[in-house]
Amino acid sequence: MENDALIAFKEVQKENWSLFAPLEAVTTICAASLVRFSRIKPGDKVLDVACGTGVVAITAAKIGAKASGIDLCPALVNRAQENTAIANVTVDVQEGDVESLPFPDHSFDAVLSQFGHMFAPRPQVAIQEMLRVLKPGGIIAFSTWPPHLCVGKMFGLVSKFSPPPEGVSPPPLWGEPHFVRQQLADAVEDLAFAQDFMLFPALSLGHYQQSIETGPIYEFIQNLKKEPARLEQFRKELQTLVSPYYVDNHLHQHYLMSRARKK
Ligand SMILES: C[S@@+](CC[C@H](N)C(=O)[O-])C[C@H]1O[C@@H](n2cnc3c(N)ncnc32)[C@H](O)[C@@H]1O
Repeated sequence: MENDALIAFKEVQKENWSLFAPLEAVTTICAASLVRFSRIKPGDKVLDVACGTGVVAITAAKIGAKASGIDLCPALVNRAQENTAIANVTVDVQEGDVESLPFPDHSFDAVLSQFGHMFAPRPQVAIQEMLRVLKPGGIIAFSTWPPHLCVGKMFGLVSKFSPPPEGVSPPPLWGEPHFVRQQLADAVEDLAFAQDFMLFPALSLGHYQQSIETGPIYEFIQNLKKEPARLEQFRKELQTLVSPYYVDNHLHQHYLMSRARKK
């Protein structure tokens, strides 16, 4: 059962992610990596969890999968539907919560999530739902940001300035292989990991800051603007944190990919 704090948290999440669409330009390439890593085949029934603008689901559909996508954020679901039409593929995209998937047990040959299910507040609730809708022998695969690298550290910094409500697990925990192993436990076999990276273009660190401040951390920044000294401190710490990853006009953002077969 969800308590009021979790319901309120998810409403804020819907708002927070509604400006994410422009960043599909950088998650598009990673989508191809995850689809390849997941080893899905033409004809497979594939679910993209927390699909955002649909980059993984559409990539899967392009190789002949019967793809579906769900996302918490209505604005991104609309964009995913537009992207599906532009790509001239068929993908069933709908609004939904990974903690309560609107599908019967054993519906899919593969359940994927790119930088998505990690943002559900309760890891066990999310992963049990993803495994429930997966057929025995099916593949679960996801990409996640490790806590000790660029994007995970950035989310850690945001949490330091604006701690999440009690009961919300830190998303970058999903970037730790031991945490993934613990969450999947003995429901799966053949657990495998790989690393990949995203190149995030930015003309300067200021441009990077602007991209994320007008995207995934917009609401957080609006709140922080009420306390200018803290906002300045956040921006200073952010620049210090990301500058080691900035080279040749891009941020080098490594991530973890995990894949396993449901028993
Ligand atoms: C970083 S974006 C990734 C989007 C997309 N998978 C991609 O790679 O471009 C995170 C996504 O997780 C979605 N999300 C967050 N919490 C969710 C939840 N509880 N259930 C479903 N989607 C969720 C957000 O709406 C957002 O689209």
